[in-house]
Amino acid sequence: MTQPAASVLSHFWAPLCAVGSHGVDGPNAQICVSVFGASIVPERPRLLVTLSNTNYTTGLVAASGTLAITVLSQTQAGLLEPLGLRSGRDGPKLDGIQHTLTAAGDPVFPGGAGTLACEVLTSFALGDSTGFLVAVRERNEGGLAPLDWQAAKLVVGEAFLARWAEKSQREQAAARAAMLWRE
Ligand SMILES: Cc1cc2nc3c(=O)[nH]c(=O)nc-3n(C[C@H](O)[C@H](O)[C@H](O)COP(=O)(O)O)c2cc1C
Repeated sequence: MTQPAASVLSHFWAPLCAVGSHGVDGPNAQICVSVFGASIVPERPRLLVTLSNTNYTTGLVAASGTLAITVLSQTQAGLLEPLGLRSGRDGPKLDGIQHTLTAAGDPVFPGGAGTLACEVLTSFALGDSTGFLVAVRERNEGGLAPLDWQAAKLVVGEAFLARWAEKSQREQAAARAAMLWRE
């Protein structure tokens, strides 16, 4: 069967995740597709999570040393707008969104494909973004199927996609100016 054309690079996007952390003003979370396995030792699970430096969440993770990951399920596409298009810098964005906190105080969202509580082991400055190597300290298997961006694009609606395209343009301009790269 013919599949719609998708860039080979899109195979490296993780399922849609909510990455949460906390600070003195409370918990916050953002959407992220840059979460990769980084351990072959089963009892020492690690992940590499890359967050843009323009995001409010990134500073919270760097300062607190912890983050939580909710692997979003197909019933959670409604979280993409509040967590992925708005910034916690503009005010508390978890108000009215059902969530619980890990022992460290990081938010996770019920109804997902699984949740993880993580501790930062080290971080890598990538210019435009920060790569956090994290140890998985707790895990809850959600059991539901994860939501990927290709599937989510079919349900989020035109208004969301237009706002995301406009935000992406701005984010890419900032990243282009700051990222480690060699011509
Ligand atoms: C579908 C989608 C995928 C995203 N993937 C990432 C990502 O991989 N890394 C990242 O840093 N931001 C990603 N974002 C953008 C952040 O979620 C967004 O900038 C968010 O508003 C940041 O919130 P904050 O400022 O409260 O941290 C994504 C957003 C969407 C909608």
